[in-house]
Formats: sequence, C-alpha cells, structure tokens
Amino acid sequence: MFVPSRLWLLGLLACSLVSAEYYNTRTADKDYLLKQKKVYNLLYHISQPAEINYTWYEEGQKWDIEANIDLYSNAAAVKEFLYMYKNKMLPRGEAFSFFYPPLLKEMMTLFRLFYYANDFETFYKTALWAKNNMNEAEYILAFYNAVIRRPDTQYIQLPPPYEIYPNFFFNSEVMEKAQHASLFGLRETSGEYKAYILPANYSGGYVKRDYYLENKLNYFTEDIGLNSYYFFFRLAHPFWMPSSEFGLSDSLRGAEYLYGHQQLMNRYYLERLVNDLPKLEDFDWQKPFYAGYYPTIIHRNGLPLPQRPEWSNFPVYKYKYIKDIMDRESRLTAAIDAGYIFGNGSKWYNIYNEEGLNILGNIIEGNADSYNRKFYGSIDSLGRKILGYNLEPSSKYKILPSALEIFSTSMRDPAFYRLYKRIIDLYYRYKMHQAPYSRDELIYPNLKIESFSIDKLITYFDQFDTTINNGIFINENDKMSLVKVRQYRLNHKPFNFHITINSDKPMKAAIRIFLGPKYDSHHRLYELSENLKYFYEIDNWILDLNAGLNKISRNSQDCFFTIRDQEPSEIFYSKLMESLYGDKPFTYNERIFGFPERLLLPRGKKEGMPLQLFLYISPVSSEYQYMSRIWGNYKFDNKPFGFPLDKPLDGLNYDGSNMLFKDILIYHKDESDMNIIY
Ligand SMILES: *[C@@H]1O[C@H](CO)[C@@H](O)[C@H](O)[C@H]1NC(C)=O
Ligand SMILES: *[C@@H]1O[C@H](CO)[C@@H](O)[C@H](O)[C@H]1NC(C)=O
Ligand SMILES: *[C@@H]1O[C@H](CO)[C@@H](O)[C@H](O)[C@H]1NC(C)=O
Repeated sequence: MFVPSRLWLLGLLACSLVSAEYYNTRTADKDYLLKQKKVYNLLYHISQPAEINYTWYEEGQKWDIEANIDLYSNAAAVKEFLYMYKNKMLPRGEAFSFFYPPLLKEMMTLFRLFYYANDFETFYKTALWAKNNMNEAEYILAFYNAVIRRPDTQYIQLPPPYEIYPNFFFNSEVMEKAQHASLFGLRETSGEYKAYILPANYSGGYVKRDYYLENKLNYFTEDIGLNSYYFFFRLAHPFWMPSSEFGLSDSLRGAEYLYGHQQLMNRYYLERLVNDLPKLEDFDWQKPFYAGYYPTIIHRNGLPLPQRPEWSNFPVYKYKYIKDIMDRESRLTAAIDAGYIFGNGSKWYNIYNEEGLNILGNIIEGNADSYNRKFYGSIDSLGRKILGYNLEPSSKYKILPSALEIFSTSMRDPAFYRLYKRIIDLYYRYKMHQAPYSRDELIYPNLKIESFSIDKLITYFDQFDTTINNGIFINENDKMSLVKVRQYRLNHKPFNFHITINSDKPMKAAIRIFLGPKYDSHHRLYELSENLKYFYEIDNWILDLNAGLNKISRNSQDCFFTIRDQEPSEIFYSKLMESLYGDKPFTYNERIFGFPERLLLPRGKKEGMPLQLFLYISPVSSEYQYMSRIWGNYKFDNKPFGFPLDKPLDGLNYDGSNMLFKDILIYHKDESDMNIIY
C-alpha cells in the first residue's frame, strides 16, 4: 500500500477510490512522537521564548554551536553562519522577505546550519538556540525548510502558517482584538472549550467601491487554506535552493512551476466566471495599472503592507526594474520563438524536447537551477517588486515588503493574477509552437465510456474557527485562553463520479477528469479551441480494468491531492500527548499539505452555474513515481502535464470513444437554505 499525491500539479484536485487505500497512513512509533512533539514545541510562541518556557530557553542559550562544530557534517556552512552572526544579522522583530538578497542569504545560511546538523538532537539544540536569537521569520522559514528536507524528520507534520503568523491571514482589526480580547468586551464562551471567538470578515468592508468588482472574489483570494497552499507550493521547490545540494528532484521543477501556476489560474478563472467577471485585462509596464489593492493586514512589527491605488502609474523608483523586466521578457519570448535558450557558457539548449518545458520553467522563475540567471534573471521576482509597490529599503534591515513579496499573502493581491497571466502566456506560447497530437495518440477505440454521471453539486458557505494563540503576544499574568477567529469559507457537499467503461481486454488505464467553462462571462458559448486551455485538472488516477464493463465510483472527499482543513494545533498536540503518555495510537499521512478540499468546486449559483467536465481514459504506457515530502508520493501515468489538452487543436474535436464532455450545473445554497444552525 502506498501512496499518493500525484503531481499535485496535476491535480490541484484529484481523487482516489478509498482514501485509506491511497494514503500511506502510518502509526507513529515513540521516536516519531518525540520528534513531532519537539518540532511543535520549537514553533510555540516564537516571539517570546523566555516567557513561554524558561527551561527550553535556557537549554537553547547553553548550546554552543562553535564548540560543537564536529556535530555538523558541513563545517564550512557552520563557519559561514557564525561569521555572519558575529557581524550582525536581521534583528528580531523586523520584517523579512525572500526577495531581498542580503536577508535571503541570512535565511539560507541558517537553513544550512539546520540541514547539516548530524543528528536530530543537534538539530533540536541548534533550533532551540536559533529560536531565542534569530529573527523570527528567518527562523520559521529556515526551520520549515529543514524539517521538510532533513532525512530524520521525514513526514513530521508542520502546523499551517495561519497558526504561526495569523497577522498575514486575518485583518489587522481582528488581530488587535485578539491581542486585547477582554478590553474589547469579548467574553469567553462556555461549553466544550472556553475560548474567545472573534468574528472576522474578508477585507473591503470599510470602503464603498461598488464599481471595483475585484472585491467580489475576496472570499476566494483571502481564503486561508488557499494561501497556505501557495505557501507550501513555493516551499516544495524554493526558488533559492539548488537541486543538487539538497537532493530535490530536479526533472520536473520548472515544469511544476509553470503547470502549477497555470492550474491555479484556471481555478481562479472559474471563480471569476461564477461572479460574472470577465477574463483578466492585459497590462503594459508603461501605462497605468488597473487593479488596486488595499491590504488590511499588517507586518508583525505593526507596519501596514503597502497599498496600490487603482489605475495608478508606476512610481519613479520602479522605472529601473521596469526597464529590466521588459528586457528579460523579450529575451524569453525570443528563446521560445527560436527554440533555443542561451546557456551561461557558450552553449545553446534546445527547448523543444522532453526536458524543454523544465528548462524553460527554471529560467522563467529564475530559480537556482536556471541555466542562465544573469541573462534571463527572474521575471517572477521582478514582477513582484514592481507590482507590489514595496518601498525602497532605507537600509538593509529596514524593509517594508509588499503582499506580493510574501508567499502567504501573494494571492490576496489582484496583481498576482495579472502577473501570472503574463507568465502563463509564455507557457502557452511555448505549447502552441508544438505539433498537435495525432488522432492515434489520443483515440483508443478499444476503450469506450458507456456512461458518466455526477451527483448533485452543491456549494455553500460554512463557518470555520481558527486558533491563533500561537501568533499573538502573551502577558505574564494572563491565563492562556483560546482565541479563535470565526470566518465563513467556501465549501461543498461531498459527491461521487459514476463512470462505466467498456474495455476489450484487461489493462491498466489512467483516468483524467477536467473541469472547465462552458460559456464566457457574457453567456456566449465558448469555441472548443479557445476553451481547452481554461480546463482545470481535478482528478488523475491509474486503475486496473477488467475485460467488459467496469463500473467505477469516486468520491470527492477522497480526492488525493486535496486535504481537509487541518485540526487546530491544540487538538493535534493533545492527541500527541495521549499517545506519548497513554496508549492511544497516533496515525499520520506521508504528506504535509495539499490543495484545500473545500475549494474543489467554484461557488455555484442559486439557479445552477453551467460548466463542463472532460473525462479522458487511456491505457497506461509507463508509470511515473512522483515523490514529494510535502504532497506525498504518487504513481501516475507518464504523460506531460495537462495531457491530453496541452497542445494546439488540429481539427480534432475530442470525440473519440475514450473521451467525453459533460455539461454540469453547480448550485449554491445560502446558509438558510442549508438549515445550518450555528
Ligand atoms: C517547560 O518544558 C519542560 C520540559 O519539556 C517541562 O517539564 C516544563 O513543565 C515546561 N514549563 C512550563 C512552564 O510549561
Ligand atoms: C461583517 O460584515 C457584515 C456585513 O457587512 C457586518 O454586518 C458585520 O458586522 C461584519 N463583521 C465584522 C466582524 O466586521
Ligand atoms: C553553467 O551552468 C551549469 C549548470 O547550472 C553549471 O554546471 C556550470 O558550472 C555553469 N558554468 C559557468 C561558466 O558558470
């Protein structure tokens, strides 16, 4: 038994037969439990290590890295860290972002120190010390990366980022109330658990701007599950991490970057469509920029994230970056049209072959595996620097990063989608230069879909509570009460796909299901050729077919790439304790995160939102074993991402016996219709 998560890319959403069979669920042994407990302790109230547990604090302070240099496998990395530390590093309390090279270097040096600790005990001691002495954000990010990469912390669970720094997920007025709950007249609830419950809305509640329609999407762009997903997505292959040094699988890195963003964009387009919003407008670096953004969130040090008014001209201090990004964009289009990229030496690399998409993705992201960072730079980070309106730092440690410069907040800014539309347009440009699939590559007459039906699809808004204690300051005299933020979030009722397939012989087959638009925002029917690129892959799995009729049923809740909302840390931790000091077994999955299952479907409409599904079945040629510490391991059919919709259409109408388009309606119910009592 094993498994799961196929290229998540593939499936931002994807399903499995029975979840228990798909996930490789394990029962923790003592060693795992002790490590898991220490990892959670290391993330407990990072801002106040001495107040929260003086024993841990002292233990950390006693750890002498220099005297124990033999306990690290890379002495040079330790020395580099110590040298930097003695010469001042980012002070505690200051804002951090990956997009400021001196700060990135500090975080990387700390990460290497963690990574090269010889055993878990040394890692633990080093982290205890760093928790007391390093900038909090540098510590958190280096620590998350270390737990994900170290061999001895495989599948150790990490809390979702909204519990660690809720200030990036909830509006500042909510954070203020949380900090001073009793002053705001809030009372603890009684009952199962005592807690302060803080109701929270999405942003935009303070400004009346009826004409600015982007706000209609706040419930989606500010969803804490979605933003946590993006945080982990960018953690799966951090742009600054060289594959070779840390054993990342590099063959899909750039391709995942492109396809993963393309899928996120397609998911976003469906949400726009439901809200009757048109496709995204184009923008020009030298003209005013339409989409404004007024974040109502703050950095931990109290500074507000920078704002960008609607239709604003880019400020003068962005001009040099604009010049730079325009140069680099034209180099990228030249590479795509010519078919070759210019390597760092005198070598040219052909990109119209199997590795091509990966090479292209690496140079577009400008990651540590890019063949020529000097020449192609990183339009990903330049775009964020221009559009986010961050201020030029007055000194290296006084920075004010924008929402786009922090992965947990990027998706809140409407500029994020404009930027990635541009990046994904490069991907399409590359794809459209390729030859279309021939009929023989796609049509398998020996496989026939006899029927395909889906249960009624219903979406609704549901209230969720998030514990944020860990992210607020505690007072010595305060007794610790739970503080929970209550917010409405998009959700849907579980449903099943029912598929009947006729096969002429027993075989291994791959099933893919895509969700896509039917009409555009003006209710005009889409042309197939124009529409296919907006399909979003919701499922992809391999199964054994018998000769004759095969009845298959898949439940949306078992979708393998998705996860449910995580348990709050206090519950997770108490289960851990019950197992460690009691006899209760503790089980965990071989994965850390996934796409929020709640967001599998876009919001429906009362009268039904028309969309369509595309079902495609083909024999498995060869299997690919995908491995990821974050998304889990999964076996999938070895085909390009987005297959079979990933190439231009050449007269083929996708009408073979092994494929099917199916119209569906998604209904949305109000709370009152659902009879939900809170
Ligand atoms: C601090 O941690 C130690 C060791 O885990 C534990 O024994 C002690 O009770 C904790 N102290 C407080 C105040 O929580
Ligand atoms: C949230 O928005 C609703 C509707 O505008 C309003 O009635 C409510 O007071 C708001 N709640 C908070 C906590 O701001
Ligand atoms: C060019 O890049 C390759 C691959 O990243 C690397 O191995 C090589 O050392 C680089 N060469 C130069 C001249 O920088």
